Amino acid sequence: MRFCTPRPVRRGLARGLLLLLPLAGRAEALVPEDCAEPASECALAEAARQAGAFVGAAISNPELPAERATIPRDFNGITAENAMKWGSLAPAVGRYDFERSDAIADFAVANDLRLRGHTLLWRDQLPADLEAVVEASPDPASKLRQLIEEHLSTVVPRYREAVSVWDVVNEPLDTFTGELDRQTLFGRTLGEAYLDEAFRRVHELDPDAQLVLNEFFFDYDLASPLGQKARGFVDLVQRLLDRGVPVHGVGVQAHFGLPAIGPLPTRAQFEGFLRTLAGIGVAIELTELDVSLKWFLGEPDPLAAQADFYGEIVGACMAVAACTAVTTWGIDDSRTWLDSFPPFDLAAPQEPLLFDGSLEPKPAYFAVRDALAAREGVFHERAARLVTAFDEALAAGDLKGREAPLRWTRNALGRAGLRLAGGHYRAACDRLDRAGRLLGDRRPGVGSAQVVRGRGTAGLAERVRALGVALDCGNRRFTEDGVAR
Ligand code: XIL
Repeated sequence: MRFCTPRPVRRGLARGLLLLLPLAGRAEALVPEDCAEPASECALAEAARQAGAFVGAAISNPELPAERATIPRDFNGITAENAMKWGSLAPAVGRYDFERSDAIADFAVANDLRLRGHTLLWRDQLPADLEAVVEASPDPASKLRQLIEEHLSTVVPRYREAVSVWDVVNEPLDTFTGELDRQTLFGRTLGEAYLDEAFRRVHELDPDAQLVLNEFFFDYDLASPLGQKARGFVDLVQRLLDRGVPVHGVGVQAHFGLPAIGPLPTRAQFEGFLRTLAGIGVAIELTELDVSLKWFLGEPDPLAAQADFYGEIVGACMAVAACTAVTTWGIDDSRTWLDSFPPFDLAAPQEPLLFDGSLEPKPAYFAVRDALAAREGVFHERAARLVTAFDEALAAGDLKGREAPLRWTRNALGRAGLRLAGGHYRAACDRLDRAGRLLGDRRPGVGSAQVVRGRGTAGLAERVRALGVALDCGNRRFTEDGVAR
């Protein structure tokens, strides 16, 4: 994978939150609640952090009540729903007004949020006179190139600190065929070359930013006739990579509004599409997720059915290692583009988001949280960190004990890591349990019975936590190294 780890994340907030936890003089108090525990009350953003992932929302104004109530508690990432589109930044060519976009960028920096820059080149929401200016030129292609260059070199450096990810190009494909859309100003004037040029230039302007190609789909089944757009997208990304274009990631918008063409995808179809994308070597994220409640009105409990579908979609992302972020297109049901944007407005109210209009979390909120918390593999990474932390603690003289038991403990940790890598959670737990015992933790309730009763990963988390406590001085290291991140 080219860029599986997003640009270095400012970890200040996570550390700050840890410090706020009641310490009560006990090392284990440094370890926040494990979001994979069945009765966990973790907020969404904490579940994302523990999964090594991001959960974001599209926002319009950081000062609005929904934004203030839910960020950063629930979202550790944001996207400007409109404010960073070319036509929002410059209603007329070259006449920039950064007031609203700067407010969002400042908010992201102040709250340690991953900001997705959305979007540099898109067929819609352009400066009102852009097309006319280009068409009036004797050489429209050169004129458009010049204007794109001015736009990129104005905007990208301005947000170098704030923006981690750029949607460099949005929706380049024809709505149905999966061919390059040649109706758009960019496609018809410059052909596919505009993608190559834009990605290369943005990479020069901000070499640290993750560069994403963002697109929407009606059908995620690569084998079906309607899957031709998804197939066209895979082919396009592959062509760009073959030409050495710096495309680091792809954004799958994941709008599930109504009216729609075709049914909702199955989990297997959706996950299969993500796996195909991961297989060609790009990072993946779901960039604009929303799911109309209207799909489920025939169900006995529509909100529960909506939650189940949300859980499947986010679960699919979490099952694919290259999929590291999920952004919902809005925060609460009182403000959703689906209720005002044709043709979706026909089906208003669509109630597609994680919070209701009173900012109460819906069942979908908890389904997404649980899907994030259930991410497997993170525990494997944690076990690997345990070994490192153990070695560091030993080297620093923090671990007391006779040489042989310490060596056995380290071996047990190493074997636990191997078993985790193979997905053998219970066996790994036994090893961790053994390591915990060797390290002298004989408290009641830390026995393997819990592992058997637990959900595998949840039981393992208990083991990891017990180890953290047992290691005493090492516990703080674990925390900083990500066990309890
Ligand atoms: C939408 C916004 O949500 C609306 O407020 C605006 O009127 C139109 O654009 N795909 C995208 C987003 O990439 O930028 C769109 O956002 C929704 C579809």
